[in-house]
Amino acid sequence: MSTLIPPPLSLYIHIPWCVKKCPYCDFNSHGQSGALPVDEYIAALVRDLEQDLPLVWGRTVHSVFFGGGTPSLFAPGAIGAILDACSSRLRFAPGAEITMECNPGTAEHGRFEQYRAAGVNRISFGIQSFDDGCLKRLGRIHDSGEAERAVKLAQDAGYDNLNLDLMYALPGQDLAMALHDVERAIALQPAHLSHYQLTMEPNTAFAVKPPEGLPGEDDAWDIQERCIEAMAAAGYAQYEVSAYARPGRQCAHNLNYWRFGDYLGIGAGAHGKISSGATGEVRRRWKPKNPRDFIAHAGTAKGIGGDDPIAPASLPFDYMLNALRLVEGFRLADFESRTGLDRAVIAAELEEARVRGWLEQDGEHWRPTELGRRFTNDVIGLFLD
Ligand SMILES: C[S@@+](CC[C@H](N)C(=O)[O-])C[C@H]1O[C@@H](n2cnc3c(N)ncnc32)[C@H](O)[C@@H]1O
Ligand code: SF4
Repeated sequence: MSTLIPPPLSLYIHIPWCVKKCPYCDFNSHGQSGALPVDEYIAALVRDLEQDLPLVWGRTVHSVFFGGGTPSLFAPGAIGAILDACSSRLRFAPGAEITMECNPGTAEHGRFEQYRAAGVNRISFGIQSFDDGCLKRLGRIHDSGEAERAVKLAQDAGYDNLNLDLMYALPGQDLAMALHDVERAIALQPAHLSHYQLTMEPNTAFAVKPPEGLPGEDDAWDIQERCIEAMAAAGYAQYEVSAYARPGRQCAHNLNYWRFGDYLGIGAGAHGKISSGATGEVRRRWKPKNPRDFIAHAGTAKGIGGDDPIAPASLPFDYMLNALRLVEGFRLADFESRTGLDRAVIAAELEEARVRGWLEQDGEHWRPTELGRRFTNDVIGLFLD
């Protein structure tokens, strides 16, 4: 056994509502009907956080992420109130990255200045595509013009740390259209791009009735390869399966997940992962998914959806599920300090991945090869217990 050393800590805050549910989305998000219970939700978030605090006494928060759902449905005053409540109960590192997801269809003139004043220093826009036909088929509430305007509003308010989410392999999309989306995103000069392959998730409208004109797997791979080249040529280096950044602009919050860091998760359906040096355990804890149940029970025993230690036999898979998404891979010493397991536990699987040409070793460092990046799921599957 190695010694488990608690890694850096992040804070995830879930806002579970959207203007309307997109047909491809399986996030814990609910179409808005009537006024949102903003005050009740904020009070519940505070109770939820207070209940989690003993798990992280004395530790510093290095990043905060408001995800959803659509956090930008909450006015700047509400986001500011949540941040104030959190920063008065937890120590925030100076200059901590604080991201808020924003649906461009909810961006209002004048609000970005106020989000900045409230402490949000990074905005992640759900653009998805700049093609109005694709946006329509995806059931989005905005068109490409609104998306561009939203990004410019944020830039005019002083935001230089922006992420744009794009999806590819969309219904009716060919390579030229996908490349055009990437070019339009690059033209807006964001610090970061996320480029996700559209997946058909169970329990979504698209799973029940798949859209017509979906590109096949080989076409999707071509699109990804060509888009990677276009982004690289414009200075956006891939550092994770779906994440690209200008130098020094990687998302600190997501990097902490992928490096098997710790995080508190507060809000409806939020998940947390916390390591304890004292017990040597890595625990996962999650909250009730339904916003009503969350509001009713936050801060009580029923406000914990579940809280389980990760079995040591499952830790290698859990670790690789994150670390092998990264272009940088991982260091054996980090595997040991973040799982509490000895490197010998994964030696056979690493060797098998090396023989198959999926991973390469450079001293302490293991990283996916180009082939390994194409078969990420198979590589990770080697570590299933
Ligand atoms: C929680 S949403 C982001 C913010 C906001 N809700 C929005 O959609 O504008 C996170 C991102 O996940 C991606 N996403 C959601 N469902 C997906 C799916 N089925 N396949 C691929 N990417 C998906 C989208 O790019 C989306 O912007
Ligand atoms: S993609 Fe974004 S806006 Fe659409 S339902 Fe999911 S969380 Fe809401």
